[in-house]
Amino acid sequence: MIDQRVLPHRVEVAVLRRLHDAVRAIADMTVRGAPLIGVTGAYGLALQARTDASAAALAAAAQALKAARPTAVNLAWAVDRTLAHLQPLALAARAAAAWAFAAQLADDDVAVNLRLGDHGLALLRELAARKHGGGPLQILTHCNAGWLATVDWGTALAPIYRAQAAGLPLHVWVDETRPRNQGASLTAFELREQGVPHTLIADNAGGHLMQRGQVDAVLVGCDRVTARGDVANKIGTYLKALAARDNGVPFYVAMPLSTLDRSLSDGLAEIPIEERSAREVTHLTGCAADGSRVEVQLVADGTPAANPAFDVTPARLVSALITERGVVTATREGIQALFEEAA
Ligand code: MRU
Repeated sequence: MIDQRVLPHRVEVAVLRRLHDAVRAIADMTVRGAPLIGVTGAYGLALQARTDASAAALAAAAQALKAARPTAVNLAWAVDRTLAHLQPLALAARAAAAWAFAAQLADDDVAVNLRLGDHGLALLRELAARKHGGGPLQILTHCNAGWLATVDWGTALAPIYRAQAAGLPLHVWVDETRPRNQGASLTAFELREQGVPHTLIADNAGGHLMQRGQVDAVLVGCDRVTARGDVANKIGTYLKALAARDNGVPFYVAMPLSTLDRSLSDGLAEIPIEERSAREVTHLTGCAADGSRVEVQLVADGTPAANPAFDVTPARLVSALITERGVVTATREGIQALFEEAA
């Protein structure tokens, strides 16, 4: 896996050899992003199956993987699917089957994101056609929902990459995304690699840009969406949705169906919000002039800090959900329609 902790300063590969490596990589965010931790979870079970594929060992491994990060439902989705696939098989067949199943999930993720990207592109084309005054479409995104956060393409960034390929001029405002700075370290890196015009902004700048008419749409990924369309995503997403609503800016959420949790309804009450180490708030990690990684303390010794890693944006603030099956309203009916059309 690409070690996302050292980007953008170094591109390093972290090798996961055992279940424990996968659990740790997910928990410490060596790998991150809802779809990617799902696929990593499936490979984690495959690693476990190589040493002990008994029902008890696989169940314990699934438990450890799912506990590594609680908010993104893709992790439990992928681990549970892998486990269910292995359970009926003979012990001797499980290791190879687990490996093949994880690879299939990885391939599916790429195909899903590509389809989602094309549906999102249609939406961006409509926005561009309605845009007054010409100029590139101005899109604001939060956190990193690109190819680093998935197996390929990304979710929120997939429509942007498809738009770029289709020749639709656009520019991306990249929220830095404190405290882990996924926007600054990862999204800006990705967009630079892809040659997509972008500008990094402090998290607090988005509302100001929207007031000045400099944002045509907000486009974010998600970690869990409930049956009625409430959206959990990286902390700070809700504030962007509020500012978008106040300024008449559409707020779109890119949601592969693996991120949908139809067992939940009220996102605020029911989605578990991961609380991460306060050190991610009190300290910053970056790169020194000699290329070495350094951590600096921002606060006075002993300053108390809290670090909720996600927030919930109520469905009423979401203009539409972009999925691999099409674009729907963030409502119970809109989400239900995704399954009726498929049936
Ligand atoms: O804590 P992270 O970096 O794993 O959080 C990631 C996000 O919030 C992304 O927006 C989400 O997972 C969508 S990834 C395609």
